[in-house]
Amino acid sequence: MASSSTPEHQQLAQAVNDGASAINAASTTEELRTVVSALTGKKGAISTIKSSLGKVSDVEMRKELGQLVNEALTSLQAIADSRSQQLRVGEFASVIESDRVDITEVAMSARATQRRGRLHLVTQATERLEDVFIGLGFQIAEGPEVETDFYNFEALNMPPSHPARSMWDTLFVESDEPGSVVLRTHTSPVQIRVMQDWPPPIYAIMPGRVFRKETPDATHMPVFHQIEGLVIDRGITFADLAGTIESFTKAFFGEGFTSRLRPSYFPFTEPSAEFDIRRPDGSWIELGGCGMVHPHVLRAGGLDPAEWSGFAFGFGIDRMAKERHGVNDLRDMYSDDVRFTEQFS
Ligand code: DAH
Repeated sequence: MASSSTPEHQQLAQAVNDGASAINAASTTEELRTVVSALTGKKGAISTIKSSLGKVSDVEMRKELGQLVNEALTSLQAIADSRSQQLRVGEFASVIESDRVDITEVAMSARATQRRGRLHLVTQATERLEDVFIGLGFQIAEGPEVETDFYNFEALNMPPSHPARSMWDTLFVESDEPGSVVLRTHTSPVQIRVMQDWPPPIYAIMPGRVFRKETPDATHMPVFHQIEGLVIDRGITFADLAGTIESFTKAFFGEGFTSRLRPSYFPFTEPSAEFDIRRPDGSWIELGGCGMVHPHVLRAGGLDPAEWSGFAFGFGIDRMAKERHGVNDLRDMYSDDVRFTEQFS
């Protein structure tokens, strides 16, 4: 092949050189496509050289230049293919990077931590109460929320039409025998179930939800929570009751708190009392009721009052949570608004 260097040879060499630089300078697949079609298209440098070959008079020379034009096109295409390959690898890597999901990121971010759920104030209070009583040697029992009249009233020394029944505004459940099924008005019926089911001695607490026909206001809810306590053993006295209330007070509220009992009336205990807690500043919190388990109640629970004696107590959990966290309105505690619950850790 002739190695002569005509102006056409030089132009071709230049066109391939410039073409290669333009191809390698393309930074996206899209840009590369535009560059390649400009180089190899009808108006590209190479086509221009090709169409000028008609003017070359030497036939051999024309043939050689024609072949060189084809080679130039082939080599530019090869350079374009390899650049295209490089660009695609890079672009794929950046798509992968931008689509990457870091599944640890969500859980670790500060926002996710702030949004983590919390236990309800009443649940927190119930768990603390359980911890304290477990520490004092008590076991936990639960009973049904839908109760029979027998457990909610009769076994607790309130026969039908006993006036003390009016101490609880009762919600009744429709049943074959009207009035025989209620939403429990207190956790005291669980005392009877525990006496029937567990062999004495018994040291039990019974937390749970209770229901009363109340219009909600800042200090009352138709659904709230109580915790019941029951101790049955041989030779249990009122002093054991007072001592237990005092130990509980110090364990739950702190060493600076004390308790007092005031005479009161409940049908299921005799004698009965209400107990208050004295804050370190001298003010009092009225907490709940207590007393020595009435012999009729022991018998309803299947126990012989000549052999066993005991005490019981019961108080509201919601009011304690309200007190502890300085909540003004009980209804806020049940608003299910995270902006409320998030205020308390
Ligand atoms: N059950 C009572 C109430 O709901 C509270 C109570 C008082 C429970 C005295 C007791 C008790 O166990 O001995 O008002």
